[in-house]
Amino acid sequence: MEFQGKVVLITGAAQGIGAAVAQAMAQQGAKLALFDVQQQALAQQVDALASNGAQVLGIGVNVTDSTAVNAAVERVEQELGHIDVLVNAAGILRLGSALDCSDADWEQTFNVNVGGVFRMCRAVANRMAPRGRGVIVTVASNASAVPRQHMAAYAASKAASAHFTRCLGLELAVHGIRCNVVSPGSTDTAMQRQLWTSEEHKQAVINGALEQFRLGIPLRRIADAADIADAVIFLASERARHITMHELCVDGGATLGA
Ligand SMILES: NC(=O)c1ccc[n+]([C@@H]2O[C@H](COP(=O)([O-])OP(=O)(O)OC[C@H]3O[C@@H](n4cnc5c(N)ncnc54)[C@H](O)[C@@H]3O)[C@@H](O)[C@H]2O)c1
Repeated sequence: MEFQGKVVLITGAAQGIGAAVAQAMAQQGAKLALFDVQQQALAQQVDALASNGAQVLGIGVNVTDSTAVNAAVERVEQELGHIDVLVNAAGILRLGSALDCSDADWEQTFNVNVGGVFRMCRAVANRMAPRGRGVIVTVASNASAVPRQHMAAYAASKAASAHFTRCLGLELAVHGIRCNVVSPGSTDTAMQRQLWTSEEHKQAVINGALEQFRLGIPLRRIADAADIADAVIFLASERARHITMHELCVDGGATLGA
């Protein structure tokens, strides 16, 4: 029960990796604040966790909206208490060639994947800093360091969110706040399933595709969301108390540790 009584705020918690982090944190005794734009899926997630005994507050928040973010963070502190951990898991993926990328796709990608991380960190870290404690974990991507075809906007946004989180870690170290990044590779969620619709496609991801300059996955499996949640939990825990500004890649070796 490593997070017993701790207040943990997770964005993108209605499904996928954010939901897996919420489940793992609930098992460790955390009080949960869950943010997502998908209100109905979020409500289902909240009900499932609460029926297992967790204290959970779900709020429909779009992380691109500063006013909504600030109000929701304030509400979490009023209703659950001081936020100990922030996990930024909300994200979107718009696929397509860099040459065909529309302004809208570029701007939405950066608004959610970078702007959302910035807005959430600003709102939460301004409260953590005077208290002299807190942990932030941002979920980026292994595409933040290794180029991928048809993912230029996404990969660039993930590089920006990862580096923003590291810079924040430098600024906040004086306040005893740690900021780290978890960079997943292919992980079995709705986002990943945009890329493969059959068992054959899934196997192709594992095998890699030389014509796209994409290596396969040396550990020969697509990650479960729980694999990513484990890394987030570790970095958020006291076991990682001397780790900050680190990017932990959880991709079965797909980027060869580069
Ligand atoms: N699945 C993968 O293979 C993979 C790989 C690398 C990185 N990631 C990253 O992991 C994170 C979680 O992805 P996932 O695979 O669980 O995807 P997902 O699409 O299953 O879940 C993302 C969640 O974020 C929410 N969200 C999107 N825009 C939002 C906004 N503006 N405000 C609030 N919530 C918003 C969605 O509603 C959804 O519930 C993302 O940041 C993603 O980029 C995923």
